[in-house]
Amino acid sequence: MTSPSRTIKVSDIELVRINPSHAHVLAALHQDGFDSPWTAQAFVDLLSQETVTGWIAGKSEPVGFILIQTAAEESEILTLAVASSHRRCGIARKLVAQALSESRDASVAIFHLEVAEVNTAAIALYQGAGFAPSGRRPNYYSKTGEAVDAILMTKSLCP
Ligand SMILES: CC(C)(COP(=O)(O)OP(=O)(O)OC[C@H]1O[C@@H](n2cnc3c(N)ncnc32)[C@H](O)[C@@H]1OP(=O)(O)O)[C@@H](O)C(=O)NCCC(=O)NCCS
Repeated sequence: MTSPSRTIKVSDIELVRINPSHAHVLAALHQDGFDSPWTAQAFVDLLSQETVTGWIAGKSEPVGFILIQTAAEESEILTLAVASSHRRCGIARKLVAQALSESRDASVAIFHLEVAEVNTAAIALYQGAGFAPSGRRPNYYSKTGEAVDAILMTKSLCP
């Protein structure tokens, strides 16, 4: 995950469905994106659930992923991360679009997510994908010892 992002064209990025063999790669990407990274075992456990699926983005190497959970007519983004070396190339936008498209095809009616209110990059990404704020969970996250609210965001997939 060291290539400069400038060399990546998002049109060259392929999306592959995640399976448990990706757990260590997912843990490494998660560690690059979050203060409290999930372990490879946590990803194995999540991926053992039939309701959980996702896609890993890459060309010669994995550079990002999204994990979603779907129950009944609702989907939720569980986590999303792009390698810091490959950000701002449209990879997260492509991953979110894939999740929305497959959920729409599966007759999901509504998509939810939670994002730290200080995560302006992710909030801008989700707003650009059509999500709107729908609530707030006070003190939901801890960032470097500080309590941070979660913003709940929702997007209807109904035609
Ligand atoms: C948030 C994150 C997934 C975005 O990934 P990315 O591949 O760089 O995002 P994209 O290149 O697809 O950006 C799509 C849009 O999101 C917004 N965006 C992304 N990064 C941004 C930033 N640093 N500042 C402001 N807006 C940003 C922009 O609207 C951007 O469109 P533009 O480039 O045309 O302006 C990435 O920064 C990351 O992995 N962060 C750490 C983990 C994380 O916060 N995950 C989300 C948890 S809810």
